[in-house]
Amino acid sequence: MAYAAFRSIGAYAPKKILTNEDLSKMVDTSDDWIVKRTGIKERHIAAKDETTSDMGVQAAKKAIERSGIHPNEIDMVVCATISPDYFCMPSTATIISNKLGLGNVTAFDISAACTGFVYILSIAKAFIESGMKKNVLIIGAEKLSAITDYTDRGTCILFGDGAGAAVISATENKDEAIIDIHTGADGTYADLLMTPNGGTGSPHDSLELEAGACFMQMKGNETFKVAVRTLTKDVVEILNDNNIESSKIDHFVPHQANYRIIKAVGDALKMRDEQVVLTVGKFGNTSGASIPMAINEVYESGSLKAGELMLLDAFGGGLTWGSALVPFSPLK
Ligand code: COA
Repeated sequence: MAYAAFRSIGAYAPKKILTNEDLSKMVDTSDDWIVKRTGIKERHIAAKDETTSDMGVQAAKKAIERSGIHPNEIDMVVCATISPDYFCMPSTATIISNKLGLGNVTAFDISAACTGFVYILSIAKAFIESGMKKNVLIIGAEKLSAITDYTDRGTCILFGDGAGAAVISATENKDEAIIDIHTGADGTYADLLMTPNGGTGSPHDSLELEAGACFMQMKGNETFKVAVRTLTKDVVEILNDNNIESSKIDHFVPHQANYRIIKAVGDALKMRDEQVVLTVGKFGNTSGASIPMAINEVYESGSLKAGELMLLDAFGGGLTWGSALVPFSPLK
């Protein structure tokens, strides 16, 4: 039987930095408020002509190079994004595949908001375990600045741009395999996080565009409470299902939305500070890119070693959520 191994990681953050100080000149907020309520100090913002696929390509190049797998061997590309180059078509995954010069691949995007990376990890695992694909490039890439309302202090302080990518490949060695992935969704909370304009539920209309309906809208406080409740339940379940104690996790890599959410879930799991990966301070919330960007930080700091166990967790618009138990399994 084929198992799915997490071979490599890569990420990209655009050059421009938007600080809390900068935001306090744009809306009624302060560095102190943002840091206390979210843990965010700054976020990276893409250049005007820099697209989601451009950032995805940069992250993917690193992931492919570090995987030791030849680009010609990549047989599927899946991109998680809520800020694609083009809404509807073509998919950002096909654009990335073309820019990378990948030949004969299956390529598509998925929309699961901030849970996107856990969802595409589960897709890669399923395709590999079924024998349909051997080497899957997964990418979380977001230009959230393009769909952020910089007059709304409740949302604009949170989001940033960036991309992260990983190569998942087939192995016969069970010790290298991704152990388990949970994914879930509950559409009764659909209105907590939305971009109302543009779809068939709210077709394009110039008046709505002026009213900012193409931007992300969020009921922050309710989202916060549901996130803590849902995430805590999900990570406890995945650990219990697999008989793994939280003390055995080398790197807890949560979706980087808000320090207080990460702290609440980490505390519920009795995680020690050194187990918890925190990048929200420097990148803010980059939605589908946040988990791979965080894994990449651990990798580039030299702290992610072969065989170490990561616990990923995420939640996002939909609502969606997910968690994963993933050993880091680079090719020897
Ligand atoms: N600066 C200063 N004050 C702000 C502010 C800002 N940027 N944003 C909101 N406020 C004000 C509100 O207007 C409100 O004022 P009032 O009491 O006079 O009405 C007060 O702060 C409290 O607002 P509230 O929304 O209850 O704050 P909060 O503690 O819930 O923090 C968030 C707001 C957005 C930081 C927090 O709810 C959050 O992080 N939610 C989760 C968001 C998230 O993770 N989304 C992505 C999901 S993937």
